Amino acid sequence: MQTTLLDFRLRRISTVLSVAILTLSLIAAISGVLLSFYYQPTAGGAYNSLKTISETVNNGWLFLKAHSFAGNALIVCGLVQIVVMFLGRQFRKSWLTAWISGIFLVLTAIGLDWTAMILGWTQEGYWRFNIELGTIQAIPFIGNQLRDILTGGNGVSSITVEHLFAIHSYILSVASIVVALVHLGGLLWQERQMSKEMLVSEMSEIAEQGDSSANQMV
Ligand code: HEM
Repeated sequence: MQTTLLDFRLRRISTVLSVAILTLSLIAAISGVLLSFYYQPTAGGAYNSLKTISETVNNGWLFLKAHSFAGNALIVCGLVQIVVMFLGRQFRKSWLTAWISGIFLVLTAIGLDWTAMILGWTQEGYWRFNIELGTIQAIPFIGNQLRDILTGGNGVSSITVEHLFAIHSYILSVASIVVALVHLGGLLWQERQMSKEMLVSEMSEIAEQGDSSANQMV
């Protein structure tokens, strides 16, 4: 496959972005675990514990801000990455691995932000969640079951906060780190392939130049 300098530069930007993505996932996961030392996943308790974390716990506000920043920056970096990867698209296994994992990464990051909506137990989060539950319920065939899984069967209550906290902190956060690792792996694999191809094409150019100058001398 012919590799141009533009392809190589786009690949480099993708690799740098994927390192940033993995770093942000790790910052979010570590700060999330630290938050969970004080966080109470119950209705009302969630709001009060987050207030305690930001006002009373030593450096709690810093971990809260770091968590929120890393989680939101992850979505932005993931979306930019999708655009950069699309511009430098190449139909080979390494690119496909990074592309598919990149899409899953963005979906996971959006899922983490979505599940965090009720974790703060704020007025805004509560009402937004109730509206979105209506949309989920309207999904044909599985809507009611999905709603029950999220809420715990009844209205939005402590069980809902527990369920969303479990999905957020155990399922989606682990998934985002795994996917970020696969994504970085795919891009490093592609970098290696492209560097080899560039080296081979440069060497064949040098060999061709050598042949033509030898012919001229003859
Ligand atoms: C890759 C891992 C993770 C990502 C990307 C992530 C992302 C996020 C995001 C985007 C928010 C919303 C922040 C906001 O805009 O205010 C949030 C909130 C929250 N996350 Fe995570 N999270 C991760 C892991 C975890 C883990 C492992 C825990 C706990 C064990 C956790 C606990 C929380 C809590 C308690 C909140 C509510 C904070 C608030 O409402 O201010 N997170 N997370």
